Amino acid sequence: MTGTAAAFDAPLSFGADALGSNPRARQNWMLKCQGCHRADATTKPLNAPPLAGEVAKVLSVPGGREYLARVPGVATVNLPSDEVAELLNWTLIRFDPAHVPRDFRPYTGDEIETLRKHPLRVEAAAMRGRLHAAWREQLGR
Ligand code: HEC
Repeated sequence: MTGTAAAFDAPLSFGADALGSNPRARQNWMLKCQGCHRADATTKPLNAPPLAGEVAKVLSVPGGREYLARVPGVATVNLPSDEVAELLNWTLIRFDPAHVPRDFRPYTGDEIETLRKHPLRVEAAAMRGRLHAAWREQLGR
């Protein structure tokens, strides 16, 4: 069984169903994120990268967890850090459950508070490229 299939089968310890249907996170997604990422998170790379089926991959490579919290759209959104943590956890489960690692620990408000003090700027795209390359390499693809 591949890691991906295992992650998909495994019951997520923090309650994937509850997070995936979290009404506040869903509303924040609509207000703060979907303008760039589209409602179903399928934006093409020229605008914003597709999150659907993609976003959680980098959680499996070093630096990926920090990256996801430091992309400008996440780090600089005008929401309190606990709502950002909730929204990012929701985004991962809602749009890419298959790639969320089994041992994933949900982001907390404190963690977001620390990471968002260092938002990425123009280097975000290059960093994304490196993380995804590392992910493919790890799988031998
Ligand atoms: C102004 C447009 C814009 C908004 C608003 C926006 N994003 Fe993004 N997002 C981007 C772009 C562009 C990237 C690619 C990284 C970069 O170049 O900044 C990105 C990257 C990401 C990534 C990393 C995905 C990856 O695979 O690299 C995540 C996670 C993310 N956004 C989530 C969110 C969330 C959650 C919100 C709402 C709080 C949000 N974004 C709001 C444009 C946006």
